[in-house]
Amino acid sequence: MSDIPEAEVARRVETILAGMSIEEKIGQLTQIAGAPFFPGPEPEEVIRKGGAGSVLWLNDTQKFNALQKIAVEESPSKIPLLFALDVIHGYRTIFPVPLAMASSWDPSVAERAQAVAAKEARAAGLHWTFGPMLDIARDARWGRIVEGAGEDPCLGAAMAAAQVRGFQGPSVGTPDHVVACAKHFAGYGAADGGRDYDPVYLPESRLRNVYFPPFQAAVKAGVGTFMSAYMDLNDVPASGNRFLLHDVLRGEWDFQGFVVSDAMAVGNLVIEGFARDGRDAALRALSAGMNMDMASGTFSENLAGLVEDGTLKVADIEAAVRPILAIKVRMGLFEHPYTDETRLAQVLAQPENHQEARLAAQRSMVLLRNEGGLLPLAKNLKKVAMIGPLADSMEATEGSWMVFGHTPAAVTVLEGMRAKLPEAQVTYAPGPEIRREIVSFFDDMMPGANAKPVQTPEQAEAAFQTAVATARAADVIVMVLGEKADMAGEAASRASLDLPGRQEELLKAVVALGKPVVLVLLNGRPLSISWAAENVPAILEAWEPGSEGGHAIAEILFGDANPGGKLPVTCPRKAGHVPLYYARDLSHQPEDHPMYRSRYWDGPTTPLYPFGFGLSYTTFLITNLKLATSKVKVGSSVSVTADVTNTGSVVGDEVVQLYIHQRASSDSRPMRELKGFERLTLKPGETKTVSFLLGPDELGYWSTNAGKWVQDAEYFDVWVGADSTATLCAEFEVIR
Ligand code: NOJ
Repeated sequence: MSDIPEAEVARRVETILAGMSIEEKIGQLTQIAGAPFFPGPEPEEVIRKGGAGSVLWLNDTQKFNALQKIAVEESPSKIPLLFALDVIHGYRTIFPVPLAMASSWDPSVAERAQAVAAKEARAAGLHWTFGPMLDIARDARWGRIVEGAGEDPCLGAAMAAAQVRGFQGPSVGTPDHVVACAKHFAGYGAADGGRDYDPVYLPESRLRNVYFPPFQAAVKAGVGTFMSAYMDLNDVPASGNRFLLHDVLRGEWDFQGFVVSDAMAVGNLVIEGFARDGRDAALRALSAGMNMDMASGTFSENLAGLVEDGTLKVADIEAAVRPILAIKVRMGLFEHPYTDETRLAQVLAQPENHQEARLAAQRSMVLLRNEGGLLPLAKNLKKVAMIGPLADSMEATEGSWMVFGHTPAAVTVLEGMRAKLPEAQVTYAPGPEIRREIVSFFDDMMPGANAKPVQTPEQAEAAFQTAVATARAADVIVMVLGEKADMAGEAASRASLDLPGRQEELLKAVVALGKPVVLVLLNGRPLSISWAAENVPAILEAWEPGSEGGHAIAEILFGDANPGGKLPVTCPRKAGHVPLYYARDLSHQPEDHPMYRSRYWDGPTTPLYPFGFGLSYTTFLITNLKLATSKVKVGSSVSVTADVTNTGSVVGDEVVQLYIHQRASSDSRPMRELKGFERLTLKPGETKTVSFLLGPDELGYWSTNAGKWVQDAEYFDVWVGADSTATLCAEFEVIR
């Protein structure tokens, strides 16, 4: 994991451990809040006694140093603290949200973004981020879909490994990097009804074939820590789940780092009706494989008693402490506990951070529609109207999960357009405001949130009419619609996937003017935009694109950058269609069956946009699919190649995707599964060959019938194309 040899780390850990009291050992298992969210002793007091191993929810370099000084000078064993925070898609330079970065289908985008985030965060004095979020999400109602890489294990695993490399560098302890945390282990994205925190029921086959691969990829990439999820998995809370934290994570994957609970999750084992009381919760979490209790105080209150009465042994506590100390050793905290308070300003001033953010935003956007080649727009436009509640919103542009104390400072779409068209008249009208109907509990923690009074219906109507009039006076209209930042993320689930508020009504009124309309979506989840998909000629899914979002959007709209992103999620026509994903098992009456009818009698079942879909300003042709062999032995690999040609007139990117289907097997297998992808840039007329390898990792799966991993000798179909509906197809056989 680190440059310090394993044996040396282990030796140092034992030396430190030998000098610690049981109270201090339990202190290392305790993470305390640096912000006064909950009543309790001051952090200084706890740290002075050696009662904390880590501090979260603090973002203040001077305070970090002050607390660290207490830890390393005044606490009994002088063990440095780990400072942790959610740096999810940027510290000060904000990158596209993770769902957007996954839309780049370019792991290097995520890796570079998280490397910049790590550099800034580390300069601020942070050591550890609670990311990447690796939860597969197939239900867009679930607000946290924005934090992950979408619905697919193959894309998810690639993005997971890239983010771990970006945050940590090649190993834990790399200068200018932070420790990463793979969260939320596991299954959190499959909450019943898409309701955040609600129970999850996932059969083992689905856990292992779909929900685990990004986590296992993070372990392979050397992730230092894991976070347990909040919810019950198959009736056992993830934070007290020995199957997850011990059997799979340590036993099967040989994870050597440590597990932190999600916030309050150890204490919440009581609320969830699993543990009898705090003592029982501490015992069951620790016994399941939990190392660190985030903010609930349950370990610090109960573990000593459990050791005293012999329920737990000192050795059990020490086993939990070891990997925490090991990370501190690897991070070099014993030698360099403090942060240079002058460094952050220098790091933040580096212009390349913004360059990276702009490039990441460009590469993350997905062109969903471009009828009649409306895009790219001409740069000699005279009058452009920017309409919609998000057109000048820094919050919506930066998106959900802001680092504590960060004030949104994004280039908005309006600003980006004005910068691009200095000579033109660029007017702006927001239309009626949009708001959550039920405010977020996070707003209670943010002074001033929702301080603005709610628009009255009359004010909203006036804003609506002004927006239509503003649009009427323009030659081209860019509507910027979607969701505000607090509409996706934690505790931000929705029952509807429609554009909130009166946005669709405004869109219809503006389209009715008969002028060219471009719809730019800023949102953290796929939205059901069926009307727009039929009636608005150009639609750009920009997600929540980050600090440089406005510039990146303008560059795409005017063709300075060519969109090449692809959907990492299936877009449903209606919220009632979720969960909807492409990798479903075949039914007895599949789509190509003569008796096939839509599964719903009130409309088509098909997605509005399929997984992997995205357009470009150029066109591509994928041909010449070849397999090195038509028969491959179990355990061996077959190489697959195809040619991709840019058949249009501008340079552009295509994401070539490979899907397989196993025709018969120990279990039924999904009708298609992504097993490889590559994003390529091609000049007009240029052809490149892409190659993929299909071996036991791609062709094997966890079988319910066999109760283990299997690779069957069977026939496979393989498709290569530009999205999950690719038709270019070949077959091969796996033989014994
Ligand atoms: C709760 C969230 O579920 C988790 O993702 C986050 O890292 C912690 N709080 C800490 O802020």
